[in-house]
Amino acid sequence: MSRFCILFTCVRVKVHVKKLSGAVSATFCFTHMTVLTYIEVLVLCQKSARLPKTDFQCLPVFLCVISLPMLANRLRVCVCVQSCHATKPGMLNVHLVPHTHDDVGWLKTVDQYYYGDRNDIQHAGVQYILDSVVDQLLKNQDRRFIYVEMAFFYRWWKSQSSSVQQTVKQLVNEGRLEFVNGGWCMSDEAATHYSAVIDQMTIGLRFLNETFGAFGRPRVTWHIDPFGHAREHASMFAQMGFDGFFFGRLDYQDRARRMRNKEQELLWRASDSLTPPMADLFTGILPNGYNPPEGFCWDQLCSDPPIRDDPDLEDYNVDDVVGCFLVIANSQSTVYKTNHIIMTMGSDFQYENANLWYKNLDKLIHYVNARQANGNKVNVLYSTPSCYLQELHRANLTWPLKTDDFFPYADDAHDFWTGYFTSRPALKRYERISNSNLQTCNQLEVFGGPKAMAVAQHHDAVSGTEKQHVANDYARKLANGWQHCRVLQASHRKCSSRIYCENLNVSVCPLTESSKKFSVNVYNPLARPVTWPVRLPVNGTAYSVSDASGKAVDCQVSMCASSFAVNELVFQVQAPPLGYTTYTVALIQDGPPPAPAQQRAPPVIQNKFLQVTFDPETGLIIELPNDVLLKRPRYNASAGNNVESRQPSGAYIFRPNSSTPFIISRTAKTEIIKTSVVQEVRQWFAPWVSQVVRLYADSRALELEWTVGPVPIDDSLGKEVITRLDTSIKTSEYFYTDSNGREVLQRKKDFWPTWNLKQSEPIAGNYYPINSRAYIKDDVDQLTVVTDRSQGGGSIQNGSLEIMLHHRLLHYDFRGVGEPLNEISGIFPDGLVVRGRLLLTLDPLPTAADMHRPLAEGMVLQPLLTFTAGDLKPNTQLEFSGLLAALPPAVHLLTLSQWDEDSVLLRLEHQYQSSESKVSSQAVTVNLQKLFSTLEVLGVAELNLSANQWKDEMKRFDWTPEKGTGHQCCVS
Ligand SMILES: *[C@@H]1O[C@H](CO)[C@@H](O)[C@H](O)[C@H]1NC(C)=O
Ligand SMILES: *[C@@H]1O[C@H](CO)[C@@H](O)[C@H](O)[C@H]1NC(C)=O
Ligand SMILES: *[C@@H]1O[C@H](CO)[C@@H](O)[C@H](O)[C@H]1NC(C)=O
Ligand SMILES: [Zn+2]
Repeated sequence: MSRFCILFTCVRVKVHVKKLSGAVSATFCFTHMTVLTYIEVLVLCQKSARLPKTDFQCLPVFLCVISLPMLANRLRVCVCVQSCHATKPGMLNVHLVPHTHDDVGWLKTVDQYYYGDRNDIQHAGVQYILDSVVDQLLKNQDRRFIYVEMAFFYRWWKSQSSSVQQTVKQLVNEGRLEFVNGGWCMSDEAATHYSAVIDQMTIGLRFLNETFGAFGRPRVTWHIDPFGHAREHASMFAQMGFDGFFFGRLDYQDRARRMRNKEQELLWRASDSLTPPMADLFTGILPNGYNPPEGFCWDQLCSDPPIRDDPDLEDYNVDDVVGCFLVIANSQSTVYKTNHIIMTMGSDFQYENANLWYKNLDKLIHYVNARQANGNKVNVLYSTPSCYLQELHRANLTWPLKTDDFFPYADDAHDFWTGYFTSRPALKRYERISNSNLQTCNQLEVFGGPKAMAVAQHHDAVSGTEKQHVANDYARKLANGWQHCRVLQASHRKCSSRIYCENLNVSVCPLTESSKKFSVNVYNPLARPVTWPVRLPVNGTAYSVSDASGKAVDCQVSMCASSFAVNELVFQVQAPPLGYTTYTVALIQDGPPPAPAQQRAPPVIQNKFLQVTFDPETGLIIELPNDVLLKRPRYNASAGNNVESRQPSGAYIFRPNSSTPFIISRTAKTEIIKTSVVQEVRQWFAPWVSQVVRLYADSRALELEWTVGPVPIDDSLGKEVITRLDTSIKTSEYFYTDSNGREVLQRKKDFWPTWNLKQSEPIAGNYYPINSRAYIKDDVDQLTVVTDRSQGGGSIQNGSLEIMLHHRLLHYDFRGVGEPLNEISGIFPDGLVVRGRLLLTLDPLPTAADMHRPLAEGMVLQPLLTFTAGDLKPNTQLEFSGLLAALPPAVHLLTLSQWDEDSVLLRLEHQYQSSESKVSSQAVTVNLQKLFSTLEVLGVAELNLSANQWKDEMKRFDWTPEKGTGHQCCVS
């Protein structure tokens, strides 16, 4: 039994369908120790937890060795060998961190980057980088290197000989090669959902643990390139056992202020709900993005002069280089707190010929330190982020506390990186749905090769800021992942003819369109029963639908709203927790499509919860019980004109021409369809913008299905299409957006909680990532919008909430991609058409979270529909639930996947914030023994969030916040 309160619990459960003799997986007190051959200091200890505190704190950077003869006595002797270079207390210590930033796809695809193919697009070959770095590390044992992306390292490792692998293990054990981050990729922080981030970290960290043991476990996360930083990422990293977090990009005004106040190193308290220090993460802002100081780039991609140290030659430059370096180092030390500073010596895809870098760094260290003989107080050393972090920790200072996040990110007054929140909306949806299917896949594997999902979390993938051909490659990889899954689904249920309809979202499914009889299998990956509307493209005009027990289900056929299919069959399915049920559909009446079920517009659609009124004049106003909601799609034009700056909108940057968006149309062509299952109003505002407002018979939420595209560009203007909800809610400039789909943060227009913002972009500067939901509220009501993918949005006027749905741009925004974001494909030669859904719920305040939490949960993990034509084989099991009973509403089953032959990884999550619901925010108890219907739990061991460390061995650095810093931004 375990109790938790807004917390992830990650356990590995030993399971079997039949009873085994196995006990609870044993845990060992010193898994992070292996035998080494050299010995410097002796420390006596029994258990890691009982190590004297100071010595324990050195563990991240000391290598501890178990002496085998002593082990028998259960008394262990640790031999600690320092893997960090010694620093000098009375001097300024400059930590040089050699590194490479290897995007897992950006201008080139993942494979092109790995092999160094298409160097005409960008010179980059990761395999050569790793080859070269390993050679160079062996040449001088002082040298250090860090590596981040397991998507690349894993590939490289697989193709090495066992002797190279042995050598690399030795380098890792000695701290000369250090892994940081260690996930499959460096995830984007705005557009990623926490569930996918945890998965991609788990895959990479598992590989590291299995390959290198505890020495391979990264202590530091390293998000040097993502364009803004999410609080939920910091919270997750803390729960994954990381000691510190370093990044490179933050708002230029925030940076200036932090430099003045020496606040570039801080303690991030990343959760309103978790008890400190559970979600506290030490955060360091790197001095120069992730680049070396100007003049000190010695890669083959750079052109700074090398150190020429032959005094007999005319161009001898050691004195110049050292002098310049000392100026930079001393100046940098004035904006940081301790006598340690860090310099990132590397950049994008550098170190392909590592000799260039290391040869010059060796000399730099030598010549700068030589000046100490003359009384100079600067000491330069090869270092790593964890060695640097250790020194900050030893400094025993207090650090400013931060409780908000780092969005939006602007690198200049008119350069807000808020466009990528929406860029490539189709890919963003595809990524989300793929995650849902992957979870389903994992669950089916438990009840009965997921690597592509991990790659798509990269900060140039799901963010939508990659080149077009790279986006296509991501989509292809996701599709391959699904393929693997579909095979699995078929083999699991011994049913070869089960078909998955990939294009159901655009009403295409040849099987349902052509079959006179078929069955629909609905798998529900949630740990509670769901009711879900199913809409299937069909050719007939009347069907009968029955559930697994043979009972008839109310169903309706109407003409399809889209142009793709003829008719649409609509009915509600109910699926059991973590399981499936089967519906049978039979054609009753064939024939031509029915005449549009168009009635003389009654201005109201309603069910027992909601009544929505449309203004008969314009067809545009929706009236909810307490509030009026005005909704018209609008767009902003983008050409990058302006007087203040020539910055145009692009894949990254959002910069509209005007603060007042253009209304696409004040009138709409309207159709109303009312059936017993659903009532809907279809509105066409322009040939390229339409929406369906839908109310299902038993739903408390109103669905808005929007279709946008192809965005016209014949006026030579790019366009950013938004939907804006104008209400009478008194928001006083506040609104709320989620962080990576989990906790919700308060936002205020033209305001940052921690510093005095000078606003220079009234729209773009007020945009935030909306991962799963946004809301506005006053003392009485809350209007929540749940999205089906990551989007950007804000509240520019009181009472209003806008969301950017799609954008098509004709200019390049000067951030490296080199092409405008103008998506065109074979299916959409005139420009991408995107369709999506928003769920709206208007609730009295005290119950708002009880509505939006389950809605968002259901939007992220959707039922998976598969189809079989004709009759099912006799004895087919029509219904199954993997659980003995549904979990309480507060508990979300985040992960259930096979770990190895006889154990399963299980993550349970309390999904309510501390005070957002009277009932559901309470602590809950779950009994794992009584959870599963077909699995017997033989033993349980708890892990950290990323499953690469046993929970009882997870010890992190403790940090003290400065008194009186940090503000309270609790969501009430
Ligand atoms: C850290 O500082 C605190 C207060 O300034 C002091 O009490 C404590 O002993 C220091 N710890 C170490 C290890 O120096
Ligand atoms: C659906 O019916 C139309 C004509 O009514 C026909 O052209 C089309 O081929 C049918 N589709 C399928 C998949 O049977
Ligand atoms: C790490 O890997 C080792 C084998 O290399 C394994 O014994 C240990 O259980 C793993 N740790 C975790 C937390 O999975
Ligand atoms: Zn990058």
